[in-house]
Amino acid sequence: MAEQDALLDQLRTICGPAAVLTAPGDIEPYAVDWKQSFVGSPFCVVRPGNTGEVAKVVAACRKHGTSIVPQGGNTGLAGGATPDASSSQVLLSLNRLTRIRSLDPIGMTVEVEAGTILQSVKEEAAKKERLLPVSLAAEGSATIGGIVSTNAGGVNVLRHGMTRALVLGLEVVLADGTIVNGLRHLRKDNAGYDWKQLFIGAEGTLGIVTAAVLRLVPAPRHSVTALLSVADVETAIALYAKAQSEIGDALSAFELISGESIALVERHAGLKSPIAAGEWFLLIEAASSLTGLEAAMQVLLAAAFEEELALDGVIAASHQQAQSLWALREHVTEAEAREGRGLKHDMSVPLTVMPAYLADARAAVAAVSRTARLNVFGHLGDGNLHYNVLLGPEDHPAAVNRAVHDAVVRHRGSISAEHGLGQYRVGEWQRTKPAAEQALAHTIKQAIDPAGLFNPGKVLAAPNKGGAA
Ligand code: FAD
Ligand code: MLT
Ligand code: ZN
Repeated sequence: MAEQDALLDQLRTICGPAAVLTAPGDIEPYAVDWKQSFVGSPFCVVRPGNTGEVAKVVAACRKHGTSIVPQGGNTGLAGGATPDASSSQVLLSLNRLTRIRSLDPIGMTVEVEAGTILQSVKEEAAKKERLLPVSLAAEGSATIGGIVSTNAGGVNVLRHGMTRALVLGLEVVLADGTIVNGLRHLRKDNAGYDWKQLFIGAEGTLGIVTAAVLRLVPAPRHSVTALLSVADVETAIALYAKAQSEIGDALSAFELISGESIALVERHAGLKSPIAAGEWFLLIEAASSLTGLEAAMQVLLAAAFEEELALDGVIAASHQQAQSLWALREHVTEAEAREGRGLKHDMSVPLTVMPAYLADARAAVAAVSRTARLNVFGHLGDGNLHYNVLLGPEDHPAAVNRAVHDAVVRHRGSISAEHGLGQYRVGEWQRTKPAAEQALAHTIKQAIDPAGLFNPGKVLAAPNKGGAA
């Protein structure tokens, strides 16, 4: 206790008393994750105001042997930003580091502090006809440090890649308090190891990301959105191949939504699908600086009907209609949360393997539960679906989890395509990841954070000699 009091004094000196929260009511919003699956108990929340203060906070925590849980917008879906229940950790919130330091519309880069909300960076870029192409339903709360630290995906990965593909430079604070400034606005830089890659997707286990330089793209002036219903995922994939041929590199989203997911959205979000139901729905978007998208989408839909691939479909006639089609997709996560006890999965397999995976996983889940209901949706174009399961009262989450993940392993996929491991998937990572890859991950952690200061219990579990072969 005396140790904690001494650290609190030091944190107050570094950041000012108002930036150190200890009252239960003040701490509570930081201590629970978005899905309310994890509840932690940090002994304080500290909110430094700049990179220098972050560095001093880290050095002080290290001196006192106190581990640190970094947090951005707290929208993560793997419990990575939630502390443990020991009342011994410091939660370091980046939510006061909110400056957009520069935005260069010619070099097409933005330099931004870690706590800045993704949406506000996108709004600033839009003023200069530029786009930061990371699009997710949580973008009004998710931060730049969070999207970098989770290597976030979203609905435009198929066109622009994951967050990693957009990061040109990072500023990070290491476990000894060193500030490493790699904020270079360079497209090309092969001068030695590209160390920033280690911090992208590290989920706060290697250091604190305090700022980033991100690549921008031209803001598309034209876009077209269509919603289709199809009978099965094989047909959806055939349509994807057709869309790649007809629309090519202007194809910016190809999302799959199951009939069950649409029913959830209709029930909980008060929205209504404008087209007749099918087993599956496809939300397809094309975006470009050039015209001609509408015609290309019409050709795609005409072929889809002629070849009897699509059951029903509509092309949005206005920006507002496009937004209401997107609302069906964007409300799935919230509708699922309202429906009750659910288990999230974030699997990926090679796209052509997806139908076999889905059949295998459905049978595997049915074998361990007679009451579980599926809520499957996601980024089909990336081979990444959220194979979420709504549990009945008798269902065992661990058994369902294993059934879904064992099917992933059988099809040589990933158990976390975009959300990360956090604390939610760490046991399954340990169970399913080959031992040599686990050992390599521990070697990296040991080299960069040997004392285990940052986010212990997240991403890595104790080395598992019996990991998958
Ligand atoms: P947090 O939740 O605060 O933290 C996430 C992880 O990063 C934690 O491990 C934390 O310790 C670490 N961290 C945060 N900031 C820093 C920092 N500055 N330095 C070091 N470590 C840090 N994700 C997708 O990939 N694709 C989606 O389509 C998607 N859709 C979503 C939709 C909804 C409705 C919701 C609620 C979430 C969705 N997410 C999605 C998940 C989430 O929004 C992303 O993971 C996002 O990147 C998290 O950002 P954040 O600022 O909220 O991070
Ligand atoms: C999404 O694609 O909407 C998300 O990643 C959120 C989820 O899995 O619920
Ligand atoms: Zn997703």
